[in-house]
Amino acid sequence: MCGIVGYTGPREAYPIIIKGLKRLEYRGYDSTGVALQNGGLNVYKKKGKVAELEDSIIGKNLHSHIGIGHTRWATHGEPSDRNAHPHQSSSGQLAMIHNGIIENYNQLKQELINKGYTFSSDTDTEVLLNFIEEIKKNNDCSLEEAVRVALKRVTGAYVILLMSADDPETIIAARKGSPLVIGVGKGEHFLGSDASPMLEYTKEVVYVNDYELAIVKPDELVLKNLGNEKLTPYVQRLDIELAAIEKGGYEHFMLKEIFEQPQTVYDCLRGRLDAVEGTITMSGIQQYAEQIMNANRIVMVACGTSWHAGLVAEYIFEELCRINVEVEYASEFRYRNPVINKGDVIIAISQSGETADTLVAIENAKSNGAIILGVVNVVGSSIARMSHAGAYTHAGPEIGVASTKAFTAQLAVLTMIALKIGYMKGTITQKRYMNLLKELQEIPEKVAWTLKHSDNIKALAEKYKDAHDFLYLGRGYNFPVALEGALKLKEISYIHAEGYPAAEMKHGPIALVDENLPVVFVATKDSFHEKVVSNMQEIKARKGRVISVITEGDETSASLSEDVMVVPEADEILAPMLSVIPLQLLAYYIGLARGCDVDKPRNLAKSVTVE
Ligand code: F6R
Repeated sequence: MCGIVGYTGPREAYPIIIKGLKRLEYRGYDSTGVALQNGGLNVYKKKGKVAELEDSIIGKNLHSHIGIGHTRWATHGEPSDRNAHPHQSSSGQLAMIHNGIIENYNQLKQELINKGYTFSSDTDTEVLLNFIEEIKKNNDCSLEEAVRVALKRVTGAYVILLMSADDPETIIAARKGSPLVIGVGKGEHFLGSDASPMLEYTKEVVYVNDYELAIVKPDELVLKNLGNEKLTPYVQRLDIELAAIEKGGYEHFMLKEIFEQPQTVYDCLRGRLDAVEGTITMSGIQQYAEQIMNANRIVMVACGTSWHAGLVAEYIFEELCRINVEVEYASEFRYRNPVINKGDVIIAISQSGETADTLVAIENAKSNGAIILGVVNVVGSSIARMSHAGAYTHAGPEIGVASTKAFTAQLAVLTMIALKIGYMKGTITQKRYMNLLKELQEIPEKVAWTLKHSDNIKALAEKYKDAHDFLYLGRGYNFPVALEGALKLKEISYIHAEGYPAAEMKHGPIALVDENLPVVFVATKDSFHEKVVSNMQEIKARKGRVISVITEGDETSASLSEDVMVVPEADEILAPMLSVIPLQLLAYYIGLARGCDVDKPRNLAKSVTVE
């Protein structure tokens, strides 16, 4: 959560920082601020989105060749002008931005209060900043040294960027548990939570690791550990184009990302799946294939939409590989002292690769001897680096806060892993394997077909937009899709929605059904279809309004539904990659019809880097 940007070099810093913050707003957007050097430190900050800050400082002298900027997702202290970053130290000499949580900030705050410090915000950030200033003053040391000493006392997660009034060239940065990328230009450096703020200026980047500190000047990047030993920065070349992080003519990133799915699923399969040769090439998985085949169990660890992908994968792995699979919320798994046996295989699923709970969960499991495989979208992210091996989803940058294309790409990767392992293990016949490869290769076209036949969904959104609640039902492979459809609707439109296994609804939720309740069935033709049709009858008999995602040509389901959304026929294992798409669109159009900010829903952030 929170986006950070920094710049030092010959260009004007302010426009670079503002543009960078707009790209990072997916990480939080309840308040914004910048610090510039212009005859001393100047800090401008405001509750609200980046555009509101911009409007509020029109006409000010924003000239500066160095600066830091922050877009916030509140943890300590409500969203307000005073809690917005950057914070300034008591002397006014230091300005700092922070992404993360300082867990022992209360203790540090008390120490500072005892020394006479007062605070102008409720944040942990201001405490850490004054703690650094106090160490610098007391030890009469450099700022760099003070930061190092302070960070050794800190528990929690952080990326900090720090500027000092008496040094108009240097930004000091440090990280533990939150992401930090440094862009290396010619005589200039860029800093960001991800690479998006620097893409048009440089493709050369350094991913800073935990417990590292960077002293960044226009001409120099010095990287050290907290023991003050110099490290050699590992400069990598990025493979992302600017167009990938722009809207490309769509009204919202979410819509663009939904419509990108034929391409993203294709990109995910490309170079891996060969349906003619009957091969799946995934080198990371190949390396651990023996251990996966022989694992007593596989544990999928994830949060939110990625957790739903894990649930679909549970069904697929159990079917194709005959391995016991458990699916865990990372936040529960990390705290409840789970039994982990040597040789357990953990599959961490994450779009961002930075979700704090998932990261810590796999860290714990790894130290207990588990093999960690990452199914991650963001290349070079913390979860990718923490994993023994894995497979990237190659969906490209996902900027809309609600996850869409990452989900279908996760399903594609997880299906390939299950097919590969199942075939090697002999738990799936050659015929079924070859058929599934062929079908999987056709999925991008079927996704395109689904999008092409989605024109009616906008009108459905208008019709149902005023409902107070929605129920989403599905069975088997489509049960997690029902959960995902409900999650999408909740987060984008703020309508209460629940996902349920269709049969389980008789054990409680059916009491909600009346003539006002829209019930969305994910009812594609699969081995559970007849049962789902019976569940539809039960809802209809109680006057619920049945809306269904159905396989093209399924007259039975259509006749029981007030409205339908269609997908083409597909093997049931692969159907979730199709059946989720109308639900993504339904949520999008309902959110839009209700006037919601679909790319930046309230209270959310794209990358949940706090627990
Ligand atoms: C929902 C959504 C979240 C994320 C969750 C995990 O649309 O985006 O539920 O899926 O925060 O994030 P990652 O996949 O980045 O670990």
